[in-house]
Order: sequence, then C-alpha cells, then structure tokens
Amino acid sequence: MLSDSCKDDEKKKCLIGNSKEDYDNQLNLPINRGIPDDTYAESERFFPEWNWDEIYSYGPQVRRLPWFTNDLDSDLREELNSRNIRGGEFLDIGTGPATQAIQLSKLGFEVTATDISLRAIMRARTLSQDVKFITDDILDSRLSKDGYLFDYIFDRGCFHTLNPKYRSQYVTQVKKLMARRAFFFLKTFSSKQPPGPGPYRFSVDMIREYFSKELMLLCSKETVYEGTFRVLPRALFVVMTRND
Ligand SMILES: C[S@@+](CC[C@H](N)C(=O)[O-])C[C@H]1O[C@@H](n2cnc3c(N)ncnc32)[C@H](O)[C@@H]1O
Repeated sequence: MLSDSCKDDEKKKCLIGNSKEDYDNQLNLPINRGIPDDTYAESERFFPEWNWDEIYSYGPQVRRLPWFTNDLDSDLREELNSRNIRGGEFLDIGTGPATQAIQLSKLGFEVTATDISLRAIMRARTLSQDVKFITDDILDSRLSKDGYLFDYIFDRGCFHTLNPKYRSQYVTQVKKLMARRAFFFLKTFSSKQPPGPGPYRFSVDMIREYFSKELMLLCSKETVYEGTFRVLPRALFVVMTRND
C-alpha cells in the first residue's frame, strides 16, 4: 500500500523534454550512430549500445555527462533528513562519477559503491579513500554471493538503463543485499518525461509491478533528475523496504 509520505518539492526548474540533439551534443560519447532514428527513440538497445567503460575513460569529460552532479541527490537528502537517518552501511549501485557515494560518505555513512565499469571504479578510487569502490555487475553481484548486507541502498540511474529482460533479476539481487529493515532508494526517469532518447521511463505502477514480489513501496514522488542538462528531465524517486 502506497503511503505518500515523501515531502513535496517545489520545482524551480522548467520541465520540458530535451531533444535528441541536446543529448547527442552534450554527450559526445561513443554511441552507435548507425541506429536508425525510430529505433533510437524507443530502443531497448539505446543504453546497451553505450559502452560504459569507454564513457568513463574520457577523464575530465565525466563532469559533462548528463547525470553528473557534485551534490547529493536532493530527494535522497530530503528523505534521509525526514527519516532522521544518520549513519549505517550504504550501497551505491552504478556509482559512475562517484559523487553520490562521496557525498554520502561525507555525511558519515560507511559507503560501498559499485559499478560495472572498471574505468569508473578506477577513476572513483582516485577521488576518495573513504568509500569502498568495487567493480560489480548488479545482475550477478559478487557482493550478494559473499553475503554482504546493507542498511541503505541507492540506485540513481542504473536500473533505468537495464534491458527490461533483466529487471526481475535486478530486483532479486537488490533484495539479497538488503538487511532486514533496510531502505532502498531508487531514482529513475519518469513516464512523465516525453518519449525520446535516454533511459527507460517509469510510472509508480510500473515500479510496483516490477518490485512488489520482493519489496514494498513506502513512498514515491515525481521530481527531476539533477545533472548537466539545461532542462532537467522528469524523474521518479521511490523508497522501498523488504516485504517480508
Ligand atoms: C546513468 S549512470 C548514473 C551514475 C551515478 N549513479 C550517478 O548518479 O551519477 C548509470 C551507471 O550505472 C552503471 N551500470 C550500468 N549497468 C550496470 C550493472 N549491470 N551493474 C552495475 N552498474 C551498472 C553504469 O556504468 C553507469 O555508471
């Protein structure tokens, strides 16, 4: 049952979609440009065509990635404050530029941050010695095989890039990594973001459908995805806990 306890946020930013050109120009990344436009718009393969390792080999350009922000995600910050969450073991899944993991560590959490990209992890290790950075595929996680359990898990932008056929595998893995009373914070593009390039979009109902076998939705909010775009994409922020 969804109890909408997430605080409403005043959106100061304009919420119109970004064009494919905005995406391409800003990214300047190793996207397979051979994909025809119609496929590109709704493609399952848009993200799998991205080579994550290549993306993170661009050094200083990492700061130009659409999802790059130095600050801790404002919805997560708000949620941690309103729940009075101050410390514990945090896992950041798909840490990429590592900014979220580093900010969480500065707040006093014991942070482990994983990414499928070795380059992202090697880069991240040069940024902080306080975070445990590990190369790991969340769909076949070594951490869960080794029995790691976390009090809090954050996914800002990993789940929404996965091929849909792996979603249930993802949910199973996340649950395995959650301690008994753990919270899972998930940020994805929202179904209110107009169709176009970029990751998959989700409504609350879709999230419930994918996760409800293993996790219970505590609250959700329509928000924006902070990053480097002039116009911030619409996003969904969801808080979940184990359902057993
Ligand atoms: C959109 S980026 C978001 C990065 C970061 N969370 C942030 O907010 O800045 C998605 C990240 O997920 C990582 N990723 C994609 N598939 C993954 C997988 N199967 N396991 C772990 N990480 C993955 C990518 O390498 C990338 O860094």
